[in-house]
Amino acid sequence: PKEETVYTYDELKQCSNYLLERTQLRPKIGIICGSGLGGFADQLSDQDVFPYTDIPNFPTSTVEGHAGCMVIGKLSSIPVVCMKGRFHHYEGYPLWKCTMAVRVMKLMGVEKLLLTNAAGGVNSEYNIGDIMIIKDHMNFQGFGGNSPLFGVNDERFGPRFLAMNNAYDRDLRKKAKAIATEMKIENVIREGIYVMLGGPTYETVAETRMLQMLGVDAVGMSTVQEVIVARHCNMKVFALSLITNKCVTEYENDDMANHAEVIAVANNRKSEMEELSRRIVITMNAD
Ligand code: 6GU
Repeated sequence: PKEETVYTYDELKQCSNYLLERTQLRPKIGIICGSGLGGFADQLSDQDVFPYTDIPNFPTSTVEGHAGCMVIGKLSSIPVVCMKGRFHHYEGYPLWKCTMAVRVMKLMGVEKLLLTNAAGGVNSEYNIGDIMIIKDHMNFQGFGGNSPLFGVNDERFGPRFLAMNNAYDRDLRKKAKAIATEMKIENVIREGIYVMLGGPTYETVAETRMLQMLGVDAVGMSTVQEVIVARHCNMKVFALSLITNKCVTEYENDDMANHAEVIAVANNRKSEMEELSRRIVITMNAD
């Protein structure tokens, strides 16, 4: 398909119908799990699991650490739909294809979206294992003339032109900080600015220094596209970055970012990420 071809409303409706016909649950909260963080989906009870390969019109995900299925189940008795494995731009999918599942969730009845990702720490004060509440993003793909919203706009999803302030819900961010304090993990909680770069390369020293000058706190290869599509269809959004490595800022430093380390750190912070996410879902469900 050409870049500007997008999924039609009917194609996406086919996906949501396929799922709704095969589960009793009616989730209003969606979750997209980051690299190494898909174990969150395994916590759900009363699971209905749908491999992406079985859902009509679905792309298949390929990256290591991503299983590739929709898990619909209950988290502390709250029905949720969880993407275990997301679609990345660097896998070769255009942004509209990477984000199609957000619209499928919307058609299923989802109103709020929780996203997680693994990210590199750009802010020099950040440590490996820190959990960053995303306060805002910088949409570099947008600066470069690319957006998941390119092409004909379907008003049934949202408006042609979209405001992006308060994309990461202020109230949920505030509540998440209170939850972190309750959990006694406030010493590893940060709040900052996330940037998505295209990947699959990690950043050069010069690039990291540029990001620092711009006021970026964490860098990854996902999330921004999904947040844009979620906001377009008026979902409430909350997102967490797990800092899995520190971006290198010195030419003399031979530390190398690598996927194995990303997954290892994600494994180590699994329980905190999962418990924090669980409590945030309960909070999202309450308001
Ligand atoms: Cl250092 N960079 C990017 N772009 N993505 C990452 C990362 C770094 N660490 C985890 N994901």
